[in-house]
Amino acid sequence: MSAAPPACQLTDRVEIGQRPTFFVGAIPIYGDTILAPMAGFSDLPFRSICREMGSAISYSACITDLAVVHGGSRTTDQIADFSEAERPVALQLLGAGEDELLAAAERLMALRPDVIDLNLGCPARRVVGGGRGSALLRHPRLIGRLARRLVDALPVPVTAKIRLGWDEASRNYLEVARILEDSGIALIAVHGRTRSQQYSGRADWGAIAEVERAVSVPVVANGDVRSVEDIEAIKNATGCAAVMIGRGAIGNPWIFARRPIAEVGWTERLALIRRHALWMVAQYGERLGVVVFRKHIVRYIQGLPGASQMRPPLLACEGVGELFAALEAWSPQG
Ligand SMILES: Cc1cc2nc3c(=O)[nH]c(=O)nc-3n(C[C@H](O)[C@H](O)[C@H](O)COP(=O)(O)O)c2cc1C
Repeated sequence: MSAAPPACQLTDRVEIGQRPTFFVGAIPIYGDTILAPMAGFSDLPFRSICREMGSAISYSACITDLAVVHGGSRTTDQIADFSEAERPVALQLLGAGEDELLAAAERLMALRPDVIDLNLGCPARRVVGGGRGSALLRHPRLIGRLARRLVDALPVPVTAKIRLGWDEASRNYLEVARILEDSGIALIAVHGRTRSQQYSGRADWGAIAEVERAVSVPVVANGDVRSVEDIEAIKNATGCAAVMIGRGAIGNPWIFARRPIAEVGWTERLALIRRHALWMVAQYGERLGVVVFRKHIVRYIQGLPGASQMRPPLLACEGVGELFAALEAWSPQG
């Protein structure tokens, strides 16, 4: 591990005269919307674009402790890669063993993140099979031990992202939130679903409100924010300091600027698509960058006239020049 970084690395983005919306430990946060961590989506280019639009913190996608400890994986390096302009940056870890988790977090400190976030919500079978992510919700005391080890050892604030519980019969979000707070966790993001719900059904904003009232650390509300109106609705329903937006931001980073997507015309969309695509090429190289960008492009054009006919040719593009030519030739009235 490299020399310990300063206790907290304050962002340069301090706006003169602007008051912080809330704090993560000693780190001031300006803004009340945050791009959710999303594996396969929330990489450096997309996070940076959302951050420019107003997303207040950059959360990396989840990183498995063992991948960090064993090192040498290009994918893990890409997930953990961030730019200075993104600060404050939270690197999110998946882990279930105290020693491995701490070892991974200490290694990540060499990258000088502002925050380490503990993932307690991932529902994927291979993740919960190893006891990580939402599997930990079944073991609240272990959550307490993991959180305490990280908080005691790391020179930056530690945060956590939870679901409401493992399943409907074991919704233990208040117990988990109180344990996290008692362990020194500086912020709790709550996705208002259980593990067994995966991504189906409605997120329970009422349960998130209960967490907000039960703890004194900032609580970030998450689940089913798809529009600018939803941002205010979830804030009103939960009383939370901030809102985390996942799927609703894919193809729509303007949501962080509180701009309704219907008001973003084609010229402006195309300009951002081009910029995003070029950033992907810079990040991953042209071949992989264009492939990874495919899942973004289908969402950028969603809902525009003729979008369904445009999908196949756009998805077939292998180079960025080809992609831009296809988009220029299309020009829907948006
Ligand atoms: C494709 C995808 C990948 C995700 N990856 C992560 C992840 O790496 N870490 C995490 O904490 N949550 C992850 N999530 C969950 C989101 O952060 C968020 O909690 C969930 O999508 C609900 O918010 P939404 O309704 O705004 O999408 C992922 C969700 C999706 C759809």
